[in-house]
Amino acid sequence: MHVIRGKKIEQLFTAEMIARRMDELAGEIAAGPTKDLLVIAVLKGSFIFAADLIRSLHHVGLAPEVEFITLSSYGTGTVSKGVRIVKDIDSDVKDRDVLLIDDILESGRTLSFARDLLLERGARHVSIAVLLDKHDKRQTSMEADHVGFRCPDHFVVGYGMDVAYAFRELPFVGVVTGDA
Ligand code: IMP
Ligand code: MG
Repeated sequence: MHVIRGKKIEQLFTAEMIARRMDELAGEIAAGPTKDLLVIAVLKGSFIFAADLIRSLHHVGLAPEVEFITLSSYGTGTVSKGVRIVKDIDSDVKDRDVLLIDDILESGRTLSFARDLLLERGARHVSIAVLLDKHDKRQTSMEADHVGFRCPDHFVVGYGMDVAYAFRELPFVGVVTGDA
């Protein structure tokens, strides 16, 4: 248990577990479509995962280009949510294999939106890598091609993921369990 900013945080996935999984994911990705590979990290939550994963991609012999897209969900409560582009990529994706990287696959709306967008723009193939899959929360048919870990239905922080911009720096994925 860690105490940070006066909150108790339980580790769910340790730095060691994550590091081990990274090389396995890179191996899986290298076995798939990688023609003129463009990696697109979905900001902001994926930035640490993407940074680790692209270095593992190098270790398995891939040399992707790397881009970033910032997406945001809107709508509240039971109103069906949409996704909008806050900051787009600059690269042309036509006829390229694309790997989308995100932190968490939950309802699936964010990544469905992103995948459809890239396919509409002419990407040859779009595959999806997520660190965590909250499978019980899915509200679309979206499945990731590469999943770091199945995640229980808790709000998680760390390893790039935040609550109100805090806790992104933690080297592990954890759950805030209460005040210290
Ligand atoms: P989806 O569109 O419902 O799949 O939303 C997934 C997005 O919600 C992720 O990219 C995260 O940014 C965010 N998210 C979902 N669960 C969590 C969490 O437990 N901690 C931090 N961010 C989360
Ligand atoms: Mg996100």
